[in-house]
Amino acid sequence: MIAKARTEQIETCFQHGVLRIGINRPEKKNALSLKMYEAMAEALARAEEDERVRVLLLHGTAECFTSGNDLADFAHAPPSGKDSPVFRFLAAVSGAKKPLVAAVNGPAVGIGTTMLLHCDLVYAGEGAVFQLPFVNLGLCPEAASSYLLPKLAGHLRASELLLLGEPFCAEAALKMGLVNGIYPDGKLFQGAIGQARKLAEKPQGSVRLTKALLKESQAERVAGVMSREGRHFMEALAGPEAREAISAFLEGRTPDFSRC
Ligand code: COA
Repeated sequence: MIAKARTEQIETCFQHGVLRIGINRPEKKNALSLKMYEAMAEALARAEEDERVRVLLLHGTAECFTSGNDLADFAHAPPSGKDSPVFRFLAAVSGAKKPLVAAVNGPAVGIGTTMLLHCDLVYAGEGAVFQLPFVNLGLCPEAASSYLLPKLAGHLRASELLLLGEPFCAEAALKMGLVNGIYPDGKLFQGAIGQARKLAEKPQGSVRLTKALLKESQAERVAGVMSREGRHFMEALAGPEAREAISAFLEGRTPDFSRC
């Protein structure tokens, strides 16, 4: 059975036990708006309740995973507490009991990279480009990335990625353990769906138990770091550095932090 739905630039498609959640706003490089976070958090919550769903697959469009949070929303409707759509989405990703597979092609910026730290299998197209530009935007890490990234990549590599905020390629992501494998761009969806189906065919009690055990030892720490980062993030968003960085992006100019 194939069941498809589309709300707020988020498309879902259910087939063979795999629920695909697709980000589809290519004209804005799949930037995530409040409504899109809400739709994704909702889809994840429904999937947890629906016994037919065995595995979830997060993906973007053919050219792009996501350019991260919609920067216009950061300027005009910033998150204001843990019930804000972005934090609800992150809580749903981080707390998912069913396995999450991600297929990443093109840009995966900000939350486009940090959400991957909570996934169970991550595949990239060879042209995928990852970036954690929080400092460039006058912000700070989110989604427990200040804890999870050093664990994965080591302190110096994580510092470089989070402090300098420069883009890095699929090969670099593979080397640091952020992705499981790389496919030619045109074969990514097919490859990731194949892996998701493999997982969906396995005994689900065992799959979920194994996922839970893999996450158990760090779950409390992750939740604590995520919540502290979230508070700093909201404060930083209201500060002069983020205001300058975001205005500069929206106005198409280089930011000037000399007076912040
Ligand atoms: N929020 C809002 N709009 C965004 C966006 C975002 N995060 N990312 C891209 N867009 C918009 C651009 O403003 C542009 O809109 P326009 O056509 O109306 O001018 C459109 O999407 C295309 O983006 P563009 O920058 O021209 O594409 P590109 O291929 O040259 O670059 C990116 C792609 C993702 C590298 C670049 O858009 C980018 O760096 N975006 C911001 C990423 C970011 O800082 N995210 C927040 C992380 S916390």
